[in-house]
Amino acid sequence: MKGLLTLKDLHKDKILELIEYALQIKNGLKVSYPGKKVVTLFYENSTRTHYSFQCALLNLGINVIQCNTETSSVQKGESLYDTVRTFEYLGVDGVVIRSSQDEYFKELENINIPIFNGGDGKSNHPTQSLLDLMTIYEEYGKFEGLKCCIIGDIAHSRVAHTNIEVMERLGMEVYISGPEEFIDDSAKYIPFDEAIKTMDVIMLLRVQFERHEEKMEMTISDYHARYGLTKEKVDCMKEHAIIMHPAPVNRGVEIADDVVECSKSRIFKQMANGVYIRMAVVSSALDGKL
Ligand code: NCD
Repeated sequence: MKGLLTLKDLHKDKILELIEYALQIKNGLKVSYPGKKVVTLFYENSTRTHYSFQCALLNLGINVIQCNTETSSVQKGESLYDTVRTFEYLGVDGVVIRSSQDEYFKELENINIPIFNGGDGKSNHPTQSLLDLMTIYEEYGKFEGLKCCIIGDIAHSRVAHTNIEVMERLGMEVYISGPEEFIDDSAKYIPFDEAIKTMDVIMLLRVQFERHEEKMEMTISDYHARYGLTKEKVDCMKEHAIIMHPAPVNRGVEIADDVVECSKSRIFKQMANGVYIRMAVVSSALDGKL
């Protein structure tokens, strides 16, 4: 399948190549695809991924067609396959999709235009991971040997699952932390306070309430007290260490209000990098390289 569905089958060199390409674009390289059309198809809520893809497409001179899943024939029971196949036959050059269904793209194997995965269930979020990696690379100029702890609702997070796999492959040491009810076996557990003191990258996650089958055991104020990143905790971090978060952030839950934009935070830089990474991904796919 063309496009970018998961990072799992993307070679390490290809990942580094995409990051380098995004950095070139950030530094002024002009790439343009006038006359091309790409559809965005979001079955789940999104601000950053949706509009960052849209900005990336517009920056590439590509016409964006936003498919409104509320008013399209999806509401009449049309399948994802038939919806995407329709766009292919309408002459569209690519489709960006977000869905709550894990690996929805497996049913799109016969589609001949590039598909860009904007997140599937709890499984993959490839462009988010790439923008995270780009931000880390800009900071440290390498991945090998860096320590990262992802903190929070690991079990329900496609960001955590995608990042753990690819970061380990790139030579990073990855840990997870947070309440027991959110911990799975995707990486080695480390206590929160130890993580704060020893990591190069602290990556926080939003509690994914919409994916929970049962109510969270602890209260929000307990969560903040035990696992929230506060100014006092930030003061215990290593001097060069950085704070990341895919956002949306819930201020006062996983992160204190005054930490969101503190000097160690790269949260808004991640968002800016998202546009360049998505430009690099779409451009590579339209050039037949993805
Ligand atoms: C994340 C997502 O949707 O997986 N957000 C994003 O894409 N930037 C994380 C989240 O919703 O918490």
